[in-house]
Amino acid sequence: MPGITLTVNGSTVSETVEGRTLLVQLLRDHLRLTGTHVGCDTSQCGACVVQVDGLAVKSCTTLAAACDGAEVTTIEGLADGDRLHPMQEAFRENHGLQCGFCTPGMVMSAVDLVRRKGFELDERTVREELEGNLCRCTGYHNIVKAIVAGAAEMGRTG
Ligand code: FES
Ligand code: FES
Repeated sequence: MPGITLTVNGSTVSETVEGRTLLVQLLRDHLRLTGTHVGCDTSQCGACVVQVDGLAVKSCTTLAAACDGAEVTTIEGLADGDRLHPMQEAFRENHGLQCGFCTPGMVMSAVDLVRRKGFELDERTVREELEGNLCRCTGYHNIVKAIVAGAAEMGRTG
């Protein structure tokens, strides 16, 4: 079994994994970072999105061994101590969640969206870009509002 070393939320982690171990299994089962959820397990729902070297990936279809040497950020690594990340705060302020199951993946995808498209997002762009993240509760309206607001706040706070 290969040994891998990676950085997860700023801490160096060395683990022995099987070749078939998925990144989400490494995060949830080995490291107990259960904020990353598993919805579909087939790369469709986006509940498992984390960032690998700054890019949003679906951790249910990423091999852990492929992340050897990488920098991984999960929802647990987004806040600054007790201070929520602006995108997390925007979801809270705009009621962008109900059950919360999709929320970690939504937030991680939203932060990646801001990186790719900038701080001034319009509703249409957000809807198009979020096609890989599904929510069964909210009807999306408040999620879209939250992401537009969160992006703007990220621009203000740097
Ligand atoms: Fe990964 Fe659904 S659990 S996309
Ligand atoms: Fe329940 Fe999105 S808030 S699935």
